[in-house]
Amino acid sequence: MVEETMLEPIVIAIDGPSGAGKGAVTHELALRTGFHILDSGALYRLTGLAVRQDAVSFSDETGIAAVAANLDVAFLPVTGQPEPFKVTLRGEDVTDRIRTDAAGVDASVVAALPLVRSSLEQLQRRFRRAPGLIADGRDMGTVIFTDATVKIFLTASAEIRAERRYKQLKNKGMDVSLAALLESIRDRDARDATRAVAPLKPAEDAIIIDSSHLSLQAVHEAVWAVVAENALSDANDFI
Ligand code: DC
Repeated sequence: MVEETMLEPIVIAIDGPSGAGKGAVTHELALRTGFHILDSGALYRLTGLAVRQDAVSFSDETGIAAVAANLDVAFLPVTGQPEPFKVTLRGEDVTDRIRTDAAGVDASVVAALPLVRSSLEQLQRRFRRAPGLIADGRDMGTVIFTDATVKIFLTASAEIRAERRYKQLKNKGMDVSLAALLESIRDRDARDATRAVAPLKPAEDAIIIDSSHLSLQAVHEAVWAVVAENALSDANDFI
C-alpha cells in the first residue's frame, strides 16, 4: 500500500546522466506500481525539435523559452512496446525523432538556458498525480520535486554508457562509431554538469546506484529494494 500523504501524491525521482538506464528503470517501476511517468528529458528534446521546426535561433534564449512555454505535446500510453508511450508534438508522432543522438545534443543545449528551464517547471509539476509519479531526469530530486519520497541517482561510467548506446544503435541497424558516441556522451555530461542552473548532480538525500557492472535485472532489483524500503509499506501489493 502507498503510504498516506495528506498533501500530494508521492514522487520517486530517478536522476542521472544519459545512458545510465533511467528510462528502463522508470518504465519497470511504473509497470510495478501503476504510477505515472514524467520523462523530463523528452520535454527538452521536444523543445529542441520545436525550435528547429520554428527556425528559432539556438542563441535566442527568450525565443526558445517562449517555444518551451507553449509546447503542444502529448504522451499517449502504449503497452507491449520498449517505450511506455507515443510522443506527439503539435499532433505529429515524434517518438523516434526525439531519440536520436542529434536530438539529445539539441536538448542538452536548450536545457542549459535558465529561461527555458523555468518555462518547463510548472508543466513538469503537473505530471504529479495519484497514485504517484516516477520522475526521470537530471534535476528531479534537486529542483523540481525536492520533496520526493525517494531520490535515486543512477549512474555508470561514460565508457560503459557509450558501449550500451553503441549496441542499441547497432541492433537498430545504424552505422555508428563507438569513439564518436563516447565523445558525444562526455561532451553532454560536461555541459549538463557544469551549467549554472540545475546542474547534473545527486541530491544530498539521494541514494546513488552505479549500474556500470550490473545487469539490467540487477539494476531493477537494486532500485526496487530502495523504493520498497522507502516509499511502499508493502511492496508486494505492487507485484
Ligand atoms: O534524459 P535525456 O537524454 O532524454 O535528456 C536529454 C537532455 O536534456 C540531457 O542532455 C540533459 C537535459 N535534461 C535536463 O537538463 N534536465 C532534465 N530534467 C532532463 C534532461
